[in-house]
Amino acid sequence: MPGRIPQTFIDELMARIDIVEVIDSKVPLKQTGRNHVARCPFHHEKTPSFTVNREKQMYYCFGCGAGGTAINFLMEYDHLGFVEAVEDLAGFAGLTVPQSDRPGSSATDALKQDALYDLQAQVAEFYSRKLFDSDNGRDGVQYLKRRGVNGETARQFLIGFAPPGWGVLRERYTAQVLNDTGLLVQNNGKSYDRFRNRIIFPIRDRRGRVVGFGGRVLDDSLPKYLNSPETPVFEKSKQLYGLYELLLEQPHPERILVVEGYMDVIALAQNGIRNAVATLGTAVSRNHLDILFRFTRELIFCFDGDKAGRQAAWRAVEIALPTLKEGRTLRLMLLPDGHDPDSLIRQDGHTGFERAMTQSVLLSDYFFDYLRRGLKMSELEGCATLVAKARPLIGQLPSGVFRELMEARLRELARLESVEISNFQNAGRRNRPDKALVHARKSSPIRAAIAMVMQHTSLARLIDTTDPRLQETSSVGIKLLLHVIEIIRRQPQITLSGLLERYRGAPDEIFIRKLAETDLIIPDDGIEAEFVGAVSRILQQEDEKRIVNLLEKAGNQVLTAEESDELRSLLPAWGGSVNE
Ligand code: UTP
Ligand code: MN
Repeated sequence: MPGRIPQTFIDELMARIDIVEVIDSKVPLKQTGRNHVARCPFHHEKTPSFTVNREKQMYYCFGCGAGGTAINFLMEYDHLGFVEAVEDLAGFAGLTVPQSDRPGSSATDALKQDALYDLQAQVAEFYSRKLFDSDNGRDGVQYLKRRGVNGETARQFLIGFAPPGWGVLRERYTAQVLNDTGLLVQNNGKSYDRFRNRIIFPIRDRRGRVVGFGGRVLDDSLPKYLNSPETPVFEKSKQLYGLYELLLEQPHPERILVVEGYMDVIALAQNGIRNAVATLGTAVSRNHLDILFRFTRELIFCFDGDKAGRQAAWRAVEIALPTLKEGRTLRLMLLPDGHDPDSLIRQDGHTGFERAMTQSVLLSDYFFDYLRRGLKMSELEGCATLVAKARPLIGQLPSGVFRELMEARLRELARLESVEISNFQNAGRRNRPDKALVHARKSSPIRAAIAMVMQHTSLARLIDTTDPRLQETSSVGIKLLLHVIEIIRRQPQITLSGLLERYRGAPDEIFIRKLAETDLIIPDDGIEAEFVGAVSRILQQEDEKRIVNLLEKAGNQVLTAEESDELRSLLPAWGGSVNE
């Protein structure tokens, strides 16, 4: 809600930031004269038409017309709301959005949240002092030393120690606020400290505010870790352990490593790998990815090499797909069995770990290897299963070059070079009106064919309307084409305006009128060839839809012999090999 943030603050913010820097951190810019340019991140293009003007503090794309201020850019590029974009920009500029105007919460909520931040900051300091205090912290320090963590790393991550007592915090801080942060737990009407005799890992949000804690036992007892519960300031699917510490050192890291444990982040940092973050005992979420891709273009997910690790890796792939715009890279690093990043880097050292990192697998390779596992790609059924599994997943990728490459790879693997995978999106939506026909594709052969035959009615004789692919179609557009042709055949002398009158008041009236108005830009002596070409493209599309339906069926159940023959006959690469 734009109104909530005072205009004076926005004024100051806009004066402080430099749009060139803001955009350059996400889309590297090249300077040409006064402007900075890049290939536009909002549409696909080969030559740069996206320009950023430092004097005006605005960007504009001559290709797609996108444009605006740095706030517009963040809203568009990172899919943020206005307030979120302002908050992010404020982060860039080192400003804080005025508190009483924080979004979505009343002033009292904001005050409550501040109390939670304040108290947790004090508690983190308190635990940290306890770690370094020789009486209380000895066990904790010994434990960290055993795990190779030194004092400097402990300070960097504000690691602390919760002494053994039941009321250490309760005796020092306000019970109500302690309760609200989850630092106290209730049992049988009594409340006591959640963390006792544990190493404490404060979790800081991107602005460095302590939002929660994790606490580890010093031995093998269970539960190994306790964590703060979710509170108004702590939402686990939106927080990443170590991100604040990382960004403090590197505001634009080249890549970020995503691991599972607190101790993994700590051990990696201790050994010189200072770009790791951990999820908080939860699977990686879409929120996590959106956040991380704001700061870097490459993520490496680290997983155990065992079966559970591979499954977790696949889940992460599925979650990541919709975020994978061009220019973003995701790699998967499967560790040797029985290792986590902490144990691996302690065994193999910094260089050994870096080597393992360079051997991480690109998402695209992992994707197809995973889906192909156990399938016989020498058989049509194996390929069909691959297509059936891969297609809906590839469909989740944002459109762009990366998605086209994945489609091409799938076609190649399944030997379906002749089939346009992106057409697959339209198959299966059997009963919906062919919307694409009305709005989108200018190049639709159906629209072209209708326009041509209306404007040159003699073309109607060039199409074999008894072709079963036309007769049995579900395409609303083809049905309309057949309808127009039917009218012409019955009334060969009909004029264009006569045809239009036939559609007065019909649902297709406006659409038909538009096609009648369309300027064909085809010389009269080329019109027959053009029409025949359009019809053959229509038939080809129908074949592809049929292929997709059969492949999808073959991927999920067994085809009848007839269907199987039909499929083979439709696929050039498979056609010859029927029962030979
Ligand atoms: P791990 O068991 O891999 O943790 O759990 P770790 O960091 O490697 O711990 P060490 O090396 O044994 O000390 C991964 C993460 O899962 C959460 C924590 O966030 C932990 O860092 N977890 C694990 C819990 O919340 N509770 C548990 O009991 C265990
Ligand atoms: Mn571990």
